[in-house]
Amino acid sequence: MTPPRSACGAPPQGGAASGPAKPVPRRPLGSAFVLLTLLPLSTLAQATGGRFEPAQIDAGREQYNRTCAQCHGRNMVNAGTTVYDLRKFPVDQPERFHQSVTNGKGNMPSFKDALTPEQVAVLWAFVGSRGGKEN
Ligand code: HEC
Repeated sequence: MTPPRSACGAPPQGGAASGPAKPVPRRPLGSAFVLLTLLPLSTLAQATGGRFEPAQIDAGREQYNRTCAQCHGRNMVNAGTTVYDLRKFPVDQPERFHQSVTNGKGNMPSFKDALTPEQVAVLWAFVGSRGGKEN
C-alpha cells in the first residue's frame, strides 16, 4: 500500500504525490479519523499512543521554520555556541519551554504577542519530540 514514512525523521518534501488522486472507496478508519480531528489537540497524544500527535509535530515544524529556524537553525541544527541547541532541550520540561518562548530569555525575544498558545503548543510537539524522532 502506501510506503512507510521516512524513518530518519527528515521533513517530508513538498507532499510528493504517489500518483494521481484515486477515489477513496471505503476507509475502515474513516469514522475514527473524523472523530480524532474533532478532538482537541491535547487529547490526541493519548489517543494515538505517541506523546504527540504527528499532525501536531508537522504543524510545529512549519511554525518552527517560520519563526525559529532563522536563529535555531533548520531542523534545530546549529553550532550551539551562542544560540541554544534545541536538540538538547530537556523533553521533560514543557513548562520551561513555554516560559522561555513566551517571555523570552537572554538574547531570545519574547513571542508573547507573535504566537498563540496553540502555536506554542505545536512548537513544543516539534521540539519535545526532537522533530518527531522521539515521539
Ligand atoms: C533572534 C534569535 C532567536 C529566535 C528567533 C528564537 N530564538 Fe530561541 N533562543 C535564542 C537564544 C540566543 C537563546 C539562548 C538564550 C539564553 O539562554 O541566553 C535561545 C534559547 C531558546 C530556548 C532555551 C530556553 C531555556 O529555557 O534555556 C528555547 C526552548 C528556545 N530558544 C525556543 C525557541 C523557539 C521555539 C523559537 C521560535 C518561536 C525561538 N526560540 C526563536 C535565540 C532565538
